[in-house]
Amino acid sequence: GAAQPVIVAIDGPSGTGKSSTSKAVAAQLGLSYLDTGAQYRAITWWMVTNGIDIEDPTAIAAVAGKPEIVSGTDPAGPTITVDGVDVAGPIRTQEVTSQVSAVSAVPEVRTRITELQRSLATAAERGIVVEGRDIGTTVLPDADLKIFLTASPEARAARRSGELKGADVQSTREALIKRDAADSSRKTSPLAKADDAVEVDTTELTLAQVIECVVTLVEEKRAAK
Ligand code: DC
Repeated sequence: GAAQPVIVAIDGPSGTGKSSTSKAVAAQLGLSYLDTGAQYRAITWWMVTNGIDIEDPTAIAAVAGKPEIVSGTDPAGPTITVDGVDVAGPIRTQEVTSQVSAVSAVPEVRTRITELQRSLATAAERGIVVEGRDIGTTVLPDADLKIFLTASPEARAARRSGELKGADVQSTREALIKRDAADSSRKTSPLAKADDAVEVDTTELTLAQVIECVVTLVEEKRAAK
């Protein structure tokens, strides 16, 4: 019934509308919302700020437990802090974006962040929408609903460069393909579709259509619980 918390995992590469969709679905259904990419960006920001050599996985692993990362899970205004510092802006810089795949490939980093994600999911009274790359496969394998969003590389690059306010589509496309390749090929919990995930190709859909599709799927699951 509707009183049971519902756990929704939304995975996929960048530029598929994951964040916009997840936030809107959570807001519409009164659920919490967690952007796990923001957590990986936050720990990357801390590594960069503290002069940790991003090329050295051993150095990253040694300090992976140090920063305190806190995520606010209200979809109307998600927040992220590192050691009490609001990093919502700094985690979106080109510098962090270009380093985040290397940092998030380190197993100690993933273990640490995965623990945070699981405890936030457990704490969400009405349920939560968690978006990322490995949520359905690794973080929340028992999620009530798993969605895997895809889109053509052209559509993804166009969306991302639109978000970055006029960034060059060609270079955005190259950077995005490079990051997805790194995220998909790493050893520890790569970007992957879970066997029981519903795949939604968003190339020809508007954001409103994707949101409606996911809301309907969540409501069906909730009714069946
Ligand atoms: O969703 P995003 O672009 O903000 O994610 C940033 C990076 O974080 C992405 O390139 C890979 C990493 N990431 C991850 O490894 N696992 C997740 N669940 C979410 C993000």
